Amino acid sequence: MKKIVVMLFVLSFIVVGCAGMWLSPPIESFKPSETVPPSLVCQTCHQDQFDSWKKTRHADGKYMAKIPVTELHECGVCHIDLSAHVADL
Ligand code: HEC
Ligand code: HEC
Repeated sequence: MKKIVVMLFVLSFIVVGCAGMWLSPPIESFKPSETVPPSLVCQTCHQDQFDSWKKTRHADGKYMAKIPVTELHECGVCHIDLSAHVADL
């Protein structure tokens, strides 16, 4: 009996621990760690990548409208530390 109680106790910890993994912060509260340069800045040097991005839904305002953080509509959604990259040039 004692063993079962201990096992239930341990099991409840595992269940609670795993449940915590499903909780993610709401996207509205996401703040990028830096200002994200607009994709037009990148276009001047990366025309091919810009064109390829334009063909995807990541560049389509219609699909991106459901993402309330505008910074996440730009190249910076996948590429980080862009301010330095652009500024160094
Ligand atoms: C003034 C020109 C210039 C601008 C503006 C610029 N880049 Fe670059 N970028 C380069 C050069 C040059 C390289 C190195 C050569 C290459 O990989 O084509 C590079 C490389 C990269 C790479 C590859 C890095 C790697 O580790 O292989 C990424 C990703 C990138 N740039 C993203 C961006 C994004 C996103 C922007 C806009 C915010 C941007 N760049 C703006 C010139 C620029
Ligand atoms: C949905 C995610 C995503 C978005 C949005 C995105 N990229 Fe990329 N980008 C990638 C991935 C993944 C790679 C490939 C990385 C690798 O091969 O190491 C890449 C590679 C690159 C490279 C290096 C390419 C090469 O040929 O070596 C450049 C430059 C680049 N991206 C620029 C941009 C620019 C400019 C934008 C915005 C106009 C942009 N990316 C938007 C995911 C993205």
